[in-house]
Amino acid sequence: MVRVLFVCLGNICRSPTAEGVFRALVSREGLQDRITTDSCGTSDWHIGDPPDTRARAEARRRGIPLDDLKARQIQPSDFTDFDYVLGMDHQNIERLSAQCPPAHLDKVRLFLDYAPDSPVREVPDPYYGGEDGFSNVFDMIEAAANGLLADIRKHHLDA
Ligand code: 4NP
Repeated sequence: MVRVLFVCLGNICRSPTAEGVFRALVSREGLQDRITTDSCGTSDWHIGDPPDTRARAEARRRGIPLDDLKARQIQPSDFTDFDYVLGMDHQNIERLSAQCPPAHLDKVRLFLDYAPDSPVREVPDPYYGGEDGFSNVFDMIEAAANGLLADIRKHHLDA
């Protein structure tokens, strides 16, 4: 089993969207028995909250349900339990790297590393912006989700 964890600051906008998009892709490809997904935040600000209403609305428009997700905070066992620990921006990466045991640091990567054609390296925080921020974020996440699945196939699933 390959385990993927998406991480942002609050775990209510970017990382639950990434989790929803990626798990839908995994299930579309029939790989739900080979790949598991989860998401969390580096902060404790929204523990137990559902994804932001605007993130849920954008995802629903695109046929991706996020309504079952609940925010949680990163915990030490995540660095051993997951194979990929993917931060949405550099601040997430800095916080994760500071907490991650050195032996697992290679798991901590920027999610957009899997979208090499993207002109930016970070998924921008849409929390304080307007609705179009969520649409923009969704497009970036979809591109990286496809690249991530290709990487998992290459390194873990292909014979
Ligand atoms: P996220 O967005 O990290 O993509 O979930 C945010 C959510 C909440 C806050 C900041 C960013 N906040 O300040 O509460």
